Amino acid sequence: MNESRLEIKLSFITGLREVVLGEISKYQDIHIIREDVNSLYLDFIQDFTLIRHMGSVARAYVVIQDSKYNPLYISNHKSILSNPIEIVLNGNEGRFKSFKITCAGSDSFEVRSIAKYIQETYELTEKEEADMKIHIIKLDEIWEMGIQITPRPLSVRDYKVRNMSGAMDPTIAYAVNSFCELKKAKSYLNIFSGSATLLIEAAQSYPNIEHLIGFDNDKKHLSLAVQNIKKAGLIKKIQLKEENIFDKPNLGTFDAITSDLPFGMSVSKGEDLKRLYKCFIEYCENVLNEEGRLVVYTSEYEILEEIISKSRFDILKTLELKLMTSVNAYLRPKIFVCKLKR
Ligand SMILES: C[S@@+](CC[C@H](N)C(=O)[O-])C[C@H]1O[C@@H](n2cnc3c(N)ncnc32)[C@H](O)[C@@H]1O
Repeated sequence: MNESRLEIKLSFITGLREVVLGEISKYQDIHIIREDVNSLYLDFIQDFTLIRHMGSVARAYVVIQDSKYNPLYISNHKSILSNPIEIVLNGNEGRFKSFKITCAGSDSFEVRSIAKYIQETYELTEKEEADMKIHIIKLDEIWEMGIQITPRPLSVRDYKVRNMSGAMDPTIAYAVNSFCELKKAKSYLNIFSGSATLLIEAAQSYPNIEHLIGFDNDKKHLSLAVQNIKKAGLIKKIQLKEENIFDKPNLGTFDAITSDLPFGMSVSKGEDLKRLYKCFIEYCENVLNEEGRLVVYTSEYEILEEIISKSRFDILKTLELKLMTSVNAYLRPKIFVCKLKR
């Protein structure tokens, strides 16, 4: 009866496709079958270890697609659910205590009977904020049934003690670092380090970097950064300083500089961003090594673009992302990859 094949689905932030493809290309065992707007479908693999450690992927699922697999069909053939549920549970029983089904008509008889089956067969409780996230959705002409392989999205990192308002999504931090040519870098500076997302992602992905330094002028952010760095086990590797960019701190020169610039309301309220960004670019002109990379992430890219155009930097590449904010509005930040003019 069950002819459709299991697949792995990876979803990511709009705009990060090339970064995800770059990360996947490192692994010979991963084969892409097809693509969707914000997701890639892979041949099924038994061992999820590689996937769980992917830095650029927001969420990963075990999925099965078939034009027949609507909620009514699944409720009449519940064994379709068993295989993917057991794969996700295998060895992780303690981590999954509750489940949620996302599906149009979740109060319908069919969906309720699916929920009852899961509850009774796997002793999981149905909850709004659940560990096991199951979806039954229609994509164009085909139905997809899928289960997220981890209770939390892959983009929620274990090192985050708590979320700082204005903190960067770790998959974007991974992307920013991927453009810095860090495999051959010895020194790395993160300006406006906040809760240290960029620093931790850099130290984890590129153990070759000898000096990682970040600075910020906010004591609370620095204290949270220290906690995150400790939790990541990187306290001996990453240095943090309390510094203000306007003081142009003397910290040496660097092979790579990254920054998630202060913006809008939540960070540096009332600050003159033009003045701040200008000072930032002038500082980077002086402390970036000749062949180094400056990679900047900002929503205020028009201000930045104008300042860069009058600077000693060339823009090698930009990447536009599209993010949903907590108030369901879209944000379209950009990543700028820059190099000093010769
Ligand atoms: C967008 S947040 C960085 C968030 C960080 N990437 C993270 O993931 O947590 C910008 C940071 O710039 C810092 N900042 C603002 N003005 C500054 C200044 N003049 N000098 C140094 N840091 C500043 C803020 O304290 C804030 O932590």
